[in-house]
Amino acid sequence: MVDNFLFVALPYISLLLFFGGTFYRTFSGGMTEFRGRWDWSVRGDFMWTTRSTGFFGRASIGPAVLCLHWGLFILLIAHLVGFVAGAVNWAWGVDYFRWTGMVGGMLVLYGAIWAFARRLSIPQLRSISMTEDYIVLLFIIFITSLGLYHSMIKLAWGVTYNAGPWVGGLLTLRPDAALMAAAPLLMKTHVVVAMLFFCYLPFTKLVHLFSYPFSFMLRPHITMRSFAGLKR
Ligand code: HEM
Repeated sequence: MVDNFLFVALPYISLLLFFGGTFYRTFSGGMTEFRGRWDWSVRGDFMWTTRSTGFFGRASIGPAVLCLHWGLFILLIAHLVGFVAGAVNWAWGVDYFRWTGMVGGMLVLYGAIWAFARRLSIPQLRSISMTEDYIVLLFIIFITSLGLYHSMIKLAWGVTYNAGPWVGGLLTLRPDAALMAAAPLLMKTHVVVAMLFFCYLPFTKLVHLFSYPFSFMLRPHITMRSFAGLKR
């Protein structure tokens, strides 16, 4: 019963919220004063941006942002390759997931801990930070730590052979909760918390993932100079 909810209902709820919530946020003006006026509200939704913190603590933003974003990108590719490989029993692809995922996971963890620490330790950053800024980082740190703990500390691997067919079943509308019910508790928690994270994502600043790289190509450059640069 619980497994059916977690591995059949919750995945569809999170897909619905991930795509439906983003659609709602984009077109309804849901987070602006234009709420309810259906339009392409993104440009008026100031919460859509990442609320850049580059003005403060410049020295620490590099490791935090670069490691976090490159790590997440690597993890995304690794998971996708792993799920396909797990579904078709392709050992090479599952191994690829294991090692590439490990590199991506360590980068994410390093970057996310930096990002969290700089928000707490730099007074200007602390004062402009919203609860949401901390919650998204805690989600990322928790999910990544569970994945890495499973593979690097417990040295357990192979859930991908269950997760791959499970994801395939969800996408072909033949979900099978039993595949994930057999997984270790650690991995079940990893997957469930990741799904909750995807439910929450459309209502946070992380929607900027849908803007990248379009606005970056079209908007004017933002110049950030060091103090030495300003004096020149
Ligand atoms: C619903 C979404 C997700 C599913 C179904 C999923 C599933 C998995 C599976 C099956 C593994 C490998 C376990 C094994 O084969 O024993 C894994 C590993 C991992 N996952 Fe996820 N995951 C999801 C989301 C995420 C997210 C959002 C992150 C990071 C923010 C993440 C980070 C990791 C890490 C770091 C590893 C360990 C990789 C390694 O050390 O090789 N996962 N995940």
